[in-house]
Amino acid sequence: MPEPNNWHMEKAQIPRPDTNQFLARALYLSVDPYMRGRISAKQGYAKGVEIGDLMPGGAVAEVIESKHPNFREGDLIETIQFGWQDYSVLNGDGLTRVDVSIGPAHAWLSYLGMPGITAWCALNNIGQPKFGETVLISAASGAVGQVAGQIAKNKGCRAIAVASSEEKLKWCKNLGYDRGVNYRTSNDLVREFAEVCPNGIDIYFDNTAGIIHDAAMQNLALGARVIIVGTISLAEKFDEPDMGERFLRQILVSRAKVQGFLVFDHLDSYPEARRSIANLHNKGELKFKTDFMDGLENMPAAFLKLLHAQNMGKQLIRTEFAEGLPE
Ligand SMILES: NC(=O)c1ccc[n+]([C@@H]2O[C@H](COP(=O)([O-])OP(=O)(O)OC[C@H]3O[C@@H](n4cnc5c(N)ncnc54)[C@H](OP(=O)(O)O)[C@@H]3O)[C@@H](O)[C@H]2O)c1
Repeated sequence: MPEPNNWHMEKAQIPRPDTNQFLARALYLSVDPYMRGRISAKQGYAKGVEIGDLMPGGAVAEVIESKHPNFREGDLIETIQFGWQDYSVLNGDGLTRVDVSIGPAHAWLSYLGMPGITAWCALNNIGQPKFGETVLISAASGAVGQVAGQIAKNKGCRAIAVASSEEKLKWCKNLGYDRGVNYRTSNDLVREFAEVCPNGIDIYFDNTAGIIHDAAMQNLALGARVIIVGTISLAEKFDEPDMGERFLRQILVSRAKVQGFLVFDHLDSYPEARRSIANLHNKGELKFKTDFMDGLENMPAAFLKLLHAQNMGKQLIRTEFAEGLPE
């Protein structure tokens, strides 16, 4: 498990933008599980971080100096290419303009940003939920899980939350999840899933892999869809081949589909996903909890909090420049 002293903070001159660039300063920095894969020695779906490199990460930031024709001082943007730093010079590629009339600035890193869009695309594009189906979601109270559960309910499904504490499950109930299972206190997850999913699991939204996955795979309904969205419980084993049980018999018997998911493969769906989530939020049908910590210097602590399952909702760092912004 990473430790706080694996990182150090450096002070540097604030960079200046060149032609077709702008300087932005972070208001909120995103803290995400994918960062664990980037500091693994094993090659993942994106390039890893070398020792001494800047940690990668997304942010909502304000343009404070621009030599770019399309960006002006005061513009707000969201980008996954900001890094763990207060200031960044950007060229405008691959970023999203933040429109605070749709949602507060920080929401563009949570329900209107990558986690919300992940929930929407994985559930709709891969899971294809139908009215009355049972959807089981791990890390159900987290950034992705909160949105996935509420979309499932909105589609008329039964939503089952899996989380590590009673406090998290209480929040899931508040979000509309029908039932919840605490995987840490359960001494028979297979039986508990069978009890809360008496007709089996039609869609398993897997945010974690591990023991939750193992129990879910033994409760699949006929025609189940298993969406592999996240494997956070394997974080300490990323460097080893993933050679656990294969569940081939259960997949055959239930004629299930198991599909890996990466949100960046669904860029075409982003506008619809964002519109649909904003719509739910405006109608009061989407609740969301955000876990703020203050200051860039607390980025390692916030990241470790996430890896230790201690975050309560979307984990963000709020910088001093976000003071006074609506939350
Ligand atoms: N494929 C994609 O494109 C994509 C995009 C975004 C996110 N993701 C994945 O989706 C998952 C959720 O991401 P998020 O941003 O919403 O994070 P999150 O759920 O807000 O926070 C991470 C949560 O993971 C759970 N967790 C941590 N260690 C665990 C362990 N050893 N075993 C089981 N659960 C553990 C904890 O929830 P509990 O306390 O409930 O266990 C923790 O709160 C992550 O795996 C992430 O990598 C994938």
